[in-house]
Amino acid sequence: MQAREHWHSRIGFILAAAGSAVGLGNIWRFPYLAGEHGGGAFLLIYLMCAFTIGISALFAELAIGKATSRSPIGAFKALKAGPWTLAAYLGVCAAFLTLSFYSVVGGWTLAYVVKSVTGALGGESAESASDAFGALVSSTVEPVLYHGLFMALVVIVVVPGVRSGIEFASKWLMPILFILLLTLILRAVTLPGAAEGLEFYLRPDFSKVTATTFVAALSQAFFSLSVGLGAMITYGSYLGAGSGSLPKATTWIAGIDCGVAVLGGLLIFSAVFAFGHDPAAGPSLTFVTLPTVFHEMPGGALFATAFFALLAVAALTSAVSLLEVAVSYMVDQHGVSRRTAAIVLGIAIFIVGIPSSLSLGPWSDLTLFGLGVMDLADYVTVKLMLPIGSILLCLYAGWVVRPHLLDTTSKRDGAYPLTFRIWTVMCRFVAPIAITYILIAGLIR
Ligand code: PHE
Repeated sequence: MQAREHWHSRIGFILAAAGSAVGLGNIWRFPYLAGEHGGGAFLLIYLMCAFTIGISALFAELAIGKATSRSPIGAFKALKAGPWTLAAYLGVCAAFLTLSFYSVVGGWTLAYVVKSVTGALGGESAESASDAFGALVSSTVEPVLYHGLFMALVVIVVVPGVRSGIEFASKWLMPILFILLLTLILRAVTLPGAAEGLEFYLRPDFSKVTATTFVAALSQAFFSLSVGLGAMITYGSYLGAGSGSLPKATTWIAGIDCGVAVLGGLLIFSAVFAFGHDPAAGPSLTFVTLPTVFHEMPGGALFATAFFALLAVAALTSAVSLLEVAVSYMVDQHGVSRRTAAIVLGIAIFIVGIPSSLSLGPWSDLTLFGLGVMDLADYVTVKLMLPIGSILLCLYAGWVVRPHLLDTTSKRDGAYPLTFRIWTVMCRFVAPIAITYILIAGLIR
Protein backbone atom coordinates (compact mmCIF):
# COMPACT_ATOMS: atom_id res chain seq x y z
CA MET A 1 0.00 0.00 0.00
CA GLN A 2 1.19 3.48 -0.75
CA ALA A 3 2.35 5.51 2.26
CA ARG A 4 -0.26 7.98 3.39
CA GLU A 5 0.26 11.57 2.35
CA HIS A 6 1.15 14.03 5.07
CA TRP A 7 0.90 17.79 5.29
CA HIS A 8 4.08 19.59 4.26
CA SER A 9 4.19 21.67 7.40
CA ARG A 10 2.35 22.37 10.62
CA ILE A 11 1.32 25.83 9.49
CA GLY A 12 0.14 24.30 6.21
CA PHE A 13 -2.07 21.89 8.14
CA ILE A 14 -3.48 24.65 10.36
CA LEU A 15 -4.28 26.84 7.37
CA ALA A 16 -5.80 23.95 5.41
CA ALA A 17 -8.01 22.98 8.34
CA ALA A 18 -8.86 26.64 8.79
CA GLY A 19 -9.58 26.66 5.05
CA SER A 20 -12.15 23.94 5.60
CA ALA A 21 -13.60 25.81 8.56
CA VAL A 22 -13.59 29.28 7.04
CA GLY A 23 -16.14 29.40 4.28
CA LEU A 24 -19.66 30.50 3.53
CA GLY A 25 -20.42 29.66 7.15
CA ASN A 26 -18.47 32.68 8.31
CA ILE A 27 -19.32 35.39 5.81
CA TRP A 28 -22.73 34.26 4.62
CA ARG A 29 -24.45 32.06 7.20
CA PHE A 30 -23.14 33.56 10.44
CA PRO A 31 -24.07 37.21 9.74
CA TYR A 32 -27.59 36.39 8.58
CA LEU A 33 -28.23 34.20 11.60
CA ALA A 34 -26.91 36.94 13.88
CA GLY A 35 -29.22 39.36 12.06
CA GLU A 36 -32.22 37.11 12.59
CA HIS A 37 -31.42 36.39 16.23
CA GLY A 38 -30.83 39.81 17.69
CA GLY A 39 -27.19 40.58 16.82
CA GLY A 40 -24.94 40.90 19.87
CA ALA A 41 -26.66 38.27 21.98
CA PHE A 42 -26.26 35.74 19.19
CA LEU A 43 -22.59 36.63 18.77
CA LEU A 44 -21.92 35.99 22.46
CA ILE A 45 -23.82 32.71 22.61
CA TYR A 46 -22.17 31.59 19.39
CA LEU A 47 -18.66 32.27 20.70
CA MET A 48 -19.48 30.52 23.94
CA CYS A 49 -20.72 27.43 22.08
CA ALA A 50 -17.72 27.42 19.75
CA PHE A 51 -15.09 27.70 22.45
CA THR A 52 -16.57 25.12 24.80
CA ILE A 53 -18.47 22.43 22.95
CA GLY A 54 -17.39 23.11 19.36
CA ILE A 55 -13.69 23.15 20.10
CA SER A 56 -13.96 19.92 22.12
CA ALA A 57 -15.61 18.14 19.22
CA LEU A 58 -13.05 19.62 16.83
CA PHE A 59 -10.21 18.26 18.93
CA ALA A 60 -11.89 14.87 19.17
CA GLU A 61 -12.16 14.67 15.36
CA LEU A 62 -8.59 15.74 14.69
CA ALA A 63 -7.26 13.40 17.36
CA ILE A 64 -9.19 10.39 16.04
CA GLY A 65 -7.92 11.14 12.54
CA LYS A 66 -4.35 11.56 13.70
CA ALA A 67 -4.44 8.45 15.88
CA THR A 68 -5.71 6.20 13.09
CA SER A 69 -4.36 7.87 9.93
CA ARG A 70 -7.68 6.99 8.31
CA SER A 71 -10.72 8.76 6.97
CA PRO A 72 -13.89 8.59 9.14
CA ILE A 73 -15.35 5.16 8.46
CA GLY A 74 -11.93 3.55 8.23
CA ALA A 75 -10.94 5.33 11.44
CA PHE A 76 -13.90 3.98 13.40
CA LYS A 77 -13.31 0.51 11.98
CA ALA A 78 -9.60 0.66 12.86
CA LEU A 79 -10.58 1.58 16.40
CA LYS A 80 -12.98 -1.39 16.43
CA ALA A 81 -15.71 1.03 17.36
CA GLY A 82 -18.57 -1.41 16.64
CA PRO A 83 -21.95 0.35 16.60
CA TRP A 84 -20.27 3.77 17.01
CA THR A 85 -19.22 3.42 13.38
CA LEU A 86 -22.78 4.51 12.65
CA ALA A 87 -21.60 8.06 13.45
CA ALA A 88 -19.17 7.87 10.55
CA TYR A 89 -21.85 6.60 8.12
CA LEU A 90 -24.14 9.38 9.28
CA GLY A 91 -21.27 11.78 8.60
CA VAL A 92 -20.84 10.59 5.02
CA CYS A 93 -24.56 11.11 4.34
CA ALA A 94 -24.47 14.51 6.04
CA ALA A 95 -21.45 15.58 3.98
CA PHE A 96 -23.21 14.54 0.76
CA LEU A 97 -26.40 16.42 1.59
CA THR A 98 -24.65 19.48 2.99
CA LEU A 99 -22.57 19.84 -0.14
CA SER A 100 -25.69 19.64 -2.31
CA PHE A 101 -26.97 23.01 -1.06
CA TYR A 102 -23.59 24.46 -0.09
CA SER A 103 -22.64 24.20 -3.73
CA VAL A 104 -25.74 26.14 -4.79
CA VAL A 105 -24.61 29.05 -2.61
CA GLY A 106 -21.04 28.53 -3.83
CA GLY A 107 -22.49 28.97 -7.32
CA TRP A 108 -23.98 32.31 -6.31
CA THR A 109 -20.50 33.51 -5.29
CA LEU A 110 -19.21 32.54 -8.75
CA ALA A 111 -22.10 34.38 -10.36
CA TYR A 112 -21.21 37.42 -8.26
CA VAL A 113 -17.62 37.31 -9.47
CA VAL A 114 -18.92 37.55 -13.03
CA LYS A 115 -21.44 40.24 -12.12
CA SER A 116 -18.72 42.29 -10.38
CA VAL A 117 -16.77 42.32 -13.62
CA THR A 118 -19.76 43.19 -15.76
CA GLY A 119 -21.03 45.76 -13.24
CA ALA A 120 -24.36 44.02 -12.67
CA LEU A 121 -24.36 43.88 -8.87
CA GLY A 122 -27.02 46.54 -8.49
CA GLY A 123 -25.18 48.31 -5.68
CA GLU A 124 -26.65 51.75 -6.39
CA SER A 125 -29.27 51.30 -3.68
CA ALA A 126 -30.50 48.72 -1.20
CA GLU A 127 -33.49 47.97 -3.46
CA SER A 128 -31.51 47.49 -6.65
CA ALA A 129 -29.02 45.21 -4.85
CA SER A 130 -31.83 43.14 -3.50
CA ASP A 131 -33.53 43.01 -6.92
CA ALA A 132 -30.32 41.84 -8.58
CA PHE A 133 -29.91 39.07 -6.03
CA GLY A 134 -33.55 38.06 -6.28
CA ALA A 135 -33.33 37.90 -10.05
CA LEU A 136 -30.33 35.58 -9.88
CA VAL A 137 -31.53 33.08 -7.30
CA SER A 138 -35.10 32.88 -8.55
CA SER A 139 -34.23 32.11 -12.14
CA THR A 140 -34.34 28.55 -13.34
CA VAL A 141 -31.22 27.97 -15.37
CA GLU A 142 -28.54 30.47 -14.35
CA PRO A 143 -28.04 29.44 -10.70
CA VAL A 144 -28.14 25.75 -11.64
CA LEU A 145 -25.38 26.30 -14.18
CA TYR A 146 -23.24 28.09 -11.60
CA HIS A 147 -23.97 25.31 -9.11
CA GLY A 148 -22.69 22.85 -11.73
CA LEU A 149 -19.60 24.96 -12.37
CA PHE A 150 -18.88 25.14 -8.65
CA MET A 151 -19.21 21.34 -8.28
CA ALA A 152 -16.92 20.87 -11.27
CA LEU A 153 -14.25 23.00 -9.57
CA VAL A 154 -14.62 20.98 -6.37
CA VAL A 155 -14.14 17.75 -8.31
CA ILE A 156 -11.09 19.18 -10.10
CA VAL A 157 -9.41 19.88 -6.77
CA VAL A 158 -10.35 16.55 -5.21
CA VAL A 159 -9.29 14.29 -8.10
CA PRO A 160 -5.50 14.77 -7.80
CA GLY A 161 -5.63 14.54 -4.00
CA VAL A 162 -6.26 17.30 -1.55
CA ARG A 163 -2.87 17.66 -0.05
CA SER A 164 -0.70 19.84 -2.25
CA GLY A 165 -3.60 21.62 -3.87
CA ILE A 166 -5.46 22.53 -0.74
CA GLU A 167 -2.48 23.15 1.46
CA PHE A 168 -0.86 25.31 -1.16
CA ALA A 169 -4.01 27.25 -1.95
CA SER A 170 -4.90 27.75 1.69
CA LYS A 171 -1.46 29.06 2.57
CA TRP A 172 -1.75 31.84 0.02
CA LEU A 173 -5.42 32.59 -0.08
CA MET A 174 -6.29 32.65 3.59
CA PRO A 175 -3.97 35.58 4.38
CA ILE A 176 -5.21 37.46 1.30
CA LEU A 177 -8.82 36.93 2.35
CA PHE A 178 -7.91 38.27 5.76
CA ILE A 179 -6.29 41.43 4.42
CA LEU A 180 -9.17 42.09 2.07
CA LEU A 181 -11.65 41.61 4.87
CA LEU A 182 -9.81 44.12 7.04
CA THR A 183 -9.71 46.65 4.20
CA LEU A 184 -13.43 46.34 3.60
CA ILE A 185 -14.17 46.63 7.31
CA LEU A 186 -12.22 49.87 7.45
CA ARG A 187 -14.41 51.22 4.69
CA ALA A 188 -17.63 49.89 6.16
CA VAL A 189 -17.19 51.08 9.75
CA THR A 190 -16.40 54.60 8.60
CA LEU A 191 -19.63 54.89 6.58
CA PRO A 192 -22.14 57.33 7.99
CA GLY A 193 -24.70 55.33 9.97
CA ALA A 194 -22.37 52.40 10.62
CA ALA A 195 -22.33 53.08 14.37
CA GLU A 196 -25.90 51.89 14.68
CA GLY A 197 -24.89 48.61 13.09
CA LEU A 198 -21.97 48.21 15.45
CA GLU A 199 -24.31 48.80 18.35
CA PHE A 200 -26.73 46.17 17.06
CA TYR A 201 -23.90 43.70 16.54
CA LEU A 202 -21.83 44.33 19.64
CA ARG A 203 -24.37 45.21 22.30
CA PRO A 204 -26.25 42.07 23.35
CA ASP A 205 -30.00 42.35 23.72
CA PHE A 206 -30.96 39.28 25.68
CA SER A 207 -34.67 39.91 25.37
CA LYS A 208 -34.45 38.34 21.89
CA VAL A 209 -32.88 35.12 23.18
CA THR A 210 -35.01 31.97 23.04
CA ALA A 211 -34.31 28.25 22.81
CA THR A 212 -34.06 28.63 19.03
CA THR A 213 -31.22 31.12 19.48
CA PHE A 214 -29.24 28.39 21.23
CA VAL A 215 -30.13 25.80 18.60
CA ALA A 216 -29.00 28.16 15.85
CA ALA A 217 -25.82 29.20 17.67
CA LEU A 218 -24.68 25.73 18.58
CA SER A 219 -25.44 24.18 15.22
CA GLN A 220 -23.71 27.12 13.53
CA ALA A 221 -20.66 26.50 15.75
CA PHE A 222 -20.46 22.91 14.49
CA PHE A 223 -21.08 23.90 10.90
CA SER A 224 -18.50 26.67 10.98
CA LEU A 225 -15.82 24.55 12.65
CA SER A 226 -16.54 21.77 10.11
CA VAL A 227 -17.27 19.23 12.84
CA GLY A 228 -19.94 16.57 13.14
CA LEU A 229 -19.50 14.78 9.84
CA GLY A 230 -15.91 13.63 9.80
CA ALA A 231 -14.22 16.27 7.65
CA MET A 232 -11.74 17.06 10.39
CA ILE A 233 -11.09 13.36 11.00
CA THR A 234 -9.92 13.23 7.40
CA TYR A 235 -7.70 16.30 7.78
CA GLY A 236 -6.29 14.99 11.07
CA SER A 237 -5.47 11.73 9.32
CA TYR A 238 -2.87 13.51 7.19
CA LEU A 239 -0.91 14.51 10.28
CA GLY A 240 2.30 12.63 10.88
CA ALA A 241 4.07 12.01 14.14
CA GLY A 242 6.04 15.01 15.33
CA SER A 243 3.53 17.48 13.95
CA GLY A 244 3.50 19.49 17.16
CA SER A 245 0.87 20.04 19.78
CA LEU A 246 -2.61 19.09 18.63
CA PRO A 247 -4.45 21.05 21.34
CA LYS A 248 -2.62 24.20 20.30
CA ALA A 249 -3.32 23.60 16.61
CA THR A 250 -6.99 23.04 17.46
CA THR A 251 -7.10 26.34 19.32
CA TRP A 252 -5.55 28.13 16.35
CA ILE A 253 -8.05 26.65 13.92
CA ALA A 254 -11.01 27.57 16.10
CA GLY A 255 -9.53 31.02 16.75
CA ILE A 256 -9.07 31.77 13.04
CA ASP A 257 -12.54 30.49 12.23
CA CYS A 258 -14.31 32.51 14.92
CA GLY A 259 -12.12 35.53 14.17
CA VAL A 260 -13.22 35.55 10.54
CA ALA A 261 -16.87 35.13 11.56
CA VAL A 262 -16.64 38.05 14.00
CA LEU A 263 -15.00 40.20 11.32
CA GLY A 264 -17.58 39.11 8.75
CA GLY A 265 -20.32 40.29 11.09
CA LEU A 266 -18.56 43.59 11.69
CA LEU A 267 -18.39 44.20 7.96
CA ILE A 268 -21.94 43.20 7.18
CA PHE A 269 -23.70 44.98 10.04
CA SER A 270 -21.87 48.29 9.57
CA ALA A 271 -23.04 48.23 5.98
CA VAL A 272 -26.53 46.91 6.71
CA PHE A 273 -27.33 49.89 8.89
CA ALA A 274 -25.43 52.44 6.83
CA PHE A 275 -27.49 51.57 3.75
CA GLY A 276 -30.79 50.81 5.41
CA HIS A 277 -30.92 47.08 4.70
CA ASP A 278 -32.97 44.80 6.93
CA PRO A 279 -30.66 42.87 9.32
CA ALA A 280 -33.18 40.02 9.46
CA ALA A 281 -33.27 39.60 5.68
CA GLY A 282 -32.04 36.00 5.91
CA PRO A 283 -29.83 34.22 3.37
CA SER A 284 -29.71 37.17 0.98
CA LEU A 285 -28.02 39.43 3.56
CA THR A 286 -24.36 39.21 2.47
CA PHE A 287 -25.22 39.27 -1.22
CA VAL A 288 -27.35 42.40 -1.06
CA THR A 289 -25.29 44.28 1.52
CA LEU A 290 -21.80 44.11 0.10
CA PRO A 291 -22.61 45.44 -3.39
CA THR A 292 -23.82 48.67 -1.79
CA VAL A 293 -20.50 49.01 0.05
CA PHE A 294 -18.50 48.34 -3.09
CA HIS A 295 -20.53 50.94 -4.92
CA GLU A 296 -19.37 53.53 -2.36
CA MET A 297 -15.69 52.66 -2.66
CA PRO A 298 -13.11 54.03 -5.07
CA GLY A 299 -12.15 51.06 -7.24
CA GLY A 300 -15.24 49.29 -5.99
CA ALA A 301 -15.59 47.00 -9.00
CA LEU A 302 -12.08 45.72 -8.45
CA PHE A 303 -12.69 45.11 -4.75
CA ALA A 304 -15.99 43.44 -5.53
CA THR A 305 -14.36 41.08 -8.00
CA ALA A 306 -11.53 40.26 -5.62
CA PHE A 307 -13.84 39.81 -2.69
CA PHE A 308 -16.32 37.48 -4.38
CA ALA A 309 -13.47 35.54 -5.96
CA LEU A 310 -11.97 34.98 -2.54
CA LEU A 311 -15.33 34.14 -1.05
CA ALA A 312 -15.72 31.59 -3.83
CA VAL A 313 -12.30 30.17 -2.99
CA ALA A 314 -13.11 30.07 0.73
CA ALA A 315 -16.29 28.21 -0.18
CA LEU A 316 -14.32 25.92 -2.48
CA THR A 317 -11.78 24.87 0.16
CA SER A 318 -14.67 24.05 2.50
CA ALA A 319 -16.59 22.20 -0.20
CA VAL A 320 -13.50 20.18 -1.04
CA SER A 321 -13.36 18.90 2.54
CA LEU A 322 -17.04 17.93 2.27
CA LEU A 323 -16.56 15.98 -0.96
CA GLU A 324 -13.40 14.41 0.42
CA VAL A 325 -15.42 12.78 3.22
CA ALA A 326 -17.60 10.95 0.70
CA VAL A 327 -14.74 10.25 -1.73
CA SER A 328 -12.42 8.80 0.91
CA TYR A 329 -15.26 6.50 1.95
CA MET A 330 -15.61 5.12 -1.60
CA VAL A 331 -11.84 4.86 -2.01
CA ASP A 332 -11.03 3.29 1.37
CA GLN A 333 -14.03 1.03 1.81
CA HIS A 334 -15.01 0.08 -1.73
CA GLY A 335 -11.71 0.25 -3.57
CA VAL A 336 -13.07 2.70 -6.14
CA SER A 337 -10.43 4.91 -7.75
CA ARG A 338 -10.25 8.44 -6.42
CA ARG A 339 -10.97 9.86 -9.85
CA THR A 340 -14.10 7.78 -10.45
CA ALA A 341 -15.36 8.38 -6.92
CA ALA A 342 -14.92 12.15 -7.17
CA ILE A 343 -16.58 12.41 -10.59
CA VAL A 344 -19.53 10.11 -9.84
CA LEU A 345 -20.19 11.64 -6.44
CA GLY A 346 -19.73 15.14 -7.85
CA ILE A 347 -22.40 14.50 -10.49
CA ALA A 348 -24.74 12.90 -7.95
CA ILE A 349 -24.37 15.84 -5.57
CA PHE A 350 -24.98 18.26 -8.42
CA ILE A 351 -28.25 16.49 -9.28
CA VAL A 352 -29.40 16.29 -5.67
CA GLY A 353 -28.65 20.03 -5.28
CA ILE A 354 -30.81 21.13 -8.22
CA PRO A 355 -34.10 21.09 -6.25
CA SER A 356 -32.45 23.31 -3.61
CA SER A 357 -31.65 25.84 -6.28
CA LEU A 358 -35.11 25.63 -7.85
CA SER A 359 -36.76 25.99 -4.45
CA LEU A 360 -35.90 29.69 -4.52
CA GLY A 361 -37.53 30.17 -7.90
CA PRO A 362 -39.96 28.02 -9.87
CA TRP A 363 -40.37 25.47 -7.07
CA SER A 364 -40.91 27.98 -4.29
CA ASP A 365 -44.39 26.60 -3.62
CA LEU A 366 -43.04 23.15 -2.88
CA THR A 367 -42.72 22.89 0.89
CA LEU A 368 -42.33 20.08 3.39
CA PHE A 369 -43.01 20.77 7.09
CA GLY A 370 -43.36 24.40 6.07
CA LEU A 371 -39.84 24.58 4.67
CA GLY A 372 -38.68 24.91 1.07
CA VAL A 373 -36.23 22.28 -0.21
CA MET A 374 -33.10 24.31 0.48
CA ASP A 375 -34.21 25.29 3.98
CA LEU A 376 -35.15 21.69 4.63
CA ALA A 377 -31.74 20.40 3.52
CA ASP A 378 -30.08 23.02 5.70
CA TYR A 379 -32.30 22.08 8.63
CA VAL A 380 -31.81 18.34 8.36
CA THR A 381 -28.04 18.55 7.98
CA VAL A 382 -26.97 21.49 10.08
CA LYS A 383 -29.63 21.39 12.80
CA LEU A 384 -30.02 17.62 13.09
CA MET A 385 -27.26 15.53 11.54
CA LEU A 386 -24.28 17.63 12.62
CA PRO A 387 -25.38 17.88 16.27
CA ILE A 388 -26.27 14.18 16.41
CA GLY A 389 -22.94 13.28 14.78
CA SER A 390 -21.19 15.46 17.32
CA ILE A 391 -22.94 13.84 20.29
CA LEU A 392 -21.90 10.38 19.13
CA LEU A 393 -18.38 11.55 18.42
CA CYS A 394 -17.98 13.24 21.82
CA LEU A 395 -19.42 10.28 23.73
CA TYR A 396 -17.22 7.85 21.88
CA ALA A 397 -14.08 9.98 22.21
CA GLY A 398 -14.72 10.84 25.86
CA TRP A 399 -15.81 7.44 27.19
CA VAL A 400 -14.41 4.77 24.92
CA VAL A 401 -11.29 5.74 23.10
CA ARG A 402 -9.80 8.33 25.43
CA PRO A 403 -6.69 6.48 26.67
CA HIS A 404 -5.69 5.63 23.14
CA LEU A 405 -5.96 9.25 22.05
CA LEU A 406 -3.98 10.35 25.08
CA ASP A 407 -1.19 8.07 24.00
CA THR A 408 -0.95 9.32 20.48
CA THR A 409 -1.47 12.99 21.04
CA SER A 410 -0.73 14.07 24.57
CA LYS A 411 2.45 12.18 25.25
CA ARG A 412 4.11 12.68 21.94
CA ASP A 413 2.93 16.24 21.72
CA GLY A 414 3.99 17.14 25.23
CA ALA A 415 1.73 16.75 28.22
CA TYR A 416 -1.43 18.83 28.54
CA PRO A 417 -2.91 17.34 31.67
CA LEU A 418 -5.31 20.16 32.50
CA THR A 419 -6.40 20.67 28.89
CA PHE A 420 -7.07 16.96 28.66
CA ARG A 421 -9.02 16.83 31.87
CA ILE A 422 -11.22 19.69 30.76
CA TRP A 423 -11.62 18.15 27.32
CA THR A 424 -12.67 14.81 28.82
CA VAL A 425 -15.34 16.44 31.00
CA MET A 426 -16.55 18.37 27.95
CA CYS A 427 -16.80 15.27 25.78
CA ARG A 428 -18.28 13.02 28.47
CA PHE A 429 -20.87 15.29 30.02
CA VAL A 430 -21.14 18.89 28.93
CA ALA A 431 -21.31 18.46 25.16
CA PRO A 432 -23.74 15.49 25.03
CA ILE A 433 -26.09 16.99 27.63
CA ALA A 434 -26.06 20.46 26.12
CA ILE A 435 -26.52 19.21 22.56
CA THR A 436 -29.34 16.85 23.55
CA TYR A 437 -31.11 19.58 25.48
CA ILE A 438 -30.79 22.03 22.63
CA LEU A 439 -31.91 19.47 20.03
CA ILE A 440 -35.06 18.68 22.00
CA ALA A 441 -35.76 22.33 22.80
CA GLY A 442 -35.42 23.10 19.10
CA LEU A 443 -37.73 20.27 18.03
CA ILE A 444 -40.59 20.94 20.41
CA ARG A 445 -40.57 24.68 20.03
N1 PHE B 1 -17.11 25.05 7.82
C1 PHE B 1 -17.57 25.30 6.50
C2 PHE B 1 -18.06 26.74 6.41
O1 PHE B 1 -18.14 27.44 7.38
C3 PHE B 1 -18.64 24.34 6.07
C4 PHE B 1 -18.33 22.91 6.36
C5 PHE B 1 -19.10 22.19 7.25
C6 PHE B 1 -17.23 22.28 5.77
C7 PHE B 1 -18.81 20.88 7.58
C8 PHE B 1 -16.92 20.97 6.07
C9 PHE B 1 -17.70 20.27 6.98
O2 PHE B 1 -18.40 27.22 5.38
